[in-house]
Amino acid sequence: MSSAFDIGLEALTGVRRASQAAAPPNENAVRGTFFLETFGCQMNEHDSEKVAGVLLARGYRQVESPEAASLVLYNTCSIREKAAQKVFSRLGEFRGKPSEGKIIGVLGCVAQQEGEEIFTRAPWVSLVCGSASYRKLPELLSQLEEGRHRVTGLDTDTDETFETEITRRDNPWRAYLTIIEGCDKACAYCVVPYTRGPERSRSSESILSEVRKLAELGYTEVQLLGQTVNSYADPSRRKMRFSELLLSVAEAPGIRRVRFTTSHPRDFTPDIVEAIDAHPALCDHVHLPVQTGSTRVLRTMQRTYTREEYLGKIAMIRGARRPISITTDIIVGFPGEAEADFNETLSLLDEVQYDGAFSFKFSPRPNTLALSMADSVAEEEKGRRLMILQEQQRKIQSQRNAALVGQTFEVLVEGKSRRENQWAGHTSSNRVLNFISPERELLGQYVQVRVTNAGPNSLVGEHVC
Ligand code: SAH
Ligand code: SF4
Ligand code: F3S
Repeated sequence: MSSAFDIGLEALTGVRRASQAAAPPNENAVRGTFFLETFGCQMNEHDSEKVAGVLLARGYRQVESPEAASLVLYNTCSIREKAAQKVFSRLGEFRGKPSEGKIIGVLGCVAQQEGEEIFTRAPWVSLVCGSASYRKLPELLSQLEEGRHRVTGLDTDTDETFETEITRRDNPWRAYLTIIEGCDKACAYCVVPYTRGPERSRSSESILSEVRKLAELGYTEVQLLGQTVNSYADPSRRKMRFSELLLSVAEAPGIRRVRFTTSHPRDFTPDIVEAIDAHPALCDHVHLPVQTGSTRVLRTMQRTYTREEYLGKIAMIRGARRPISITTDIIVGFPGEAEADFNETLSLLDEVQYDGAFSFKFSPRPNTLALSMADSVAEEEKGRRLMILQEQQRKIQSQRNAALVGQTFEVLVEGKSRRENQWAGHTSSNRVLNFISPERELLGQYVQVRVTNAGPNSLVGEHVC
């Protein structure tokens, strides 16, 4: 669906950019200017917010283009080959140009994966640092400021998480908050355990104290982050379970919405659904990546559950007292995926009726188990399967969203169109709802919106004043 109302994400990003114009603590003490571009997942987006906080506190000012910056940073993603290539095309833009004292740095998952090899491919880079070493960033920056030519932070054996008191958040209403870093699972296709290091959780006490501070600052939505967020293991004596933590965050005065992502099916236990049922601030949305509907392929992927076990988790979520929206991730063309396996994924989509699905062609990655398996499905065939899957999922979403026409939902208003009276935000189920309202100022407010029209990816409605 594309209509005059379809302003959702564009408008949402518009708001984010506006709020990025944070000033350094003291304009006279500007040490330099930085440009920071982020690729990849929400964990990376939030890491960038922390890095920006560190830089602002050092007296750097943020600028909107690499040309205007004395420090250019790319926070990179390595999940698929295409994502990893992006940073090399960005770095390529500096080829042959004198850098005029510019410091260029690569952060994140490509930094961790490629390490010092980045200096060989792009000798104009001076800083290479993976996320497990961000604690060292101030020290690495000092060394660069003192004239060191090249510095690296590539350890992943840390048991610490990267926390700052000075995180500069992009969104004025929704705050990301990391509760667990790294990943201890060993999915055969995935670089994350390698690029982000082992799992380490923050203490429940420090999480809850940050939530209270966020609420005081005016944030009303908190999104708890972790590559496997529900594998959270409280390192403090309190030993709070993940579901208890959810409830405690939801209880914080001023917090109206709590989200969490990404959940691993193996650790998705009934008490999480009971918590959602028990507290209205816990949003009615669960992202539960399945990857494939074939137990045979799940086994070679090392996902640690069968199709039936996964469907058992779905039945548990569907058994909640209120409807909970379910979304997923799917990989097509994993090594050895036969047509029959792919058909099982299609039948799983029909059975589960997801409200959204991110789907990808398998991409062989360095340091993963799947790299040693023959990439047996031809690129063209992967493309064909992806198209079939996305078309089927699009129909499912159209039907599910159409069934919502006439219903009224609470929306956190996050975007405003350039057009008069048009607004956008998310429902608790994480759907984008674009709507009209005669009100002049709604940003950051929670309003009731009646759905009047629906497409596969978003809803259209009118403010119930
Ligand atoms: N930690 C999350 C998300 C990991 S990355 C989780 O465990 O679910 C997000 C998604 O990227 C994965 O769920 C998977 O669907 C996809 N992905 C990861 N590695 C991939 C690869 N090598 N090729 C294609 N897709 C991949
Ligand atoms: Fe990757 Fe699997 Fe860990 Fe998710 S659980 S980050 S897919 S290894
Ligand atoms: Fe990408 Fe790293 Fe996130 S590989 S998806 S940025 S954990």
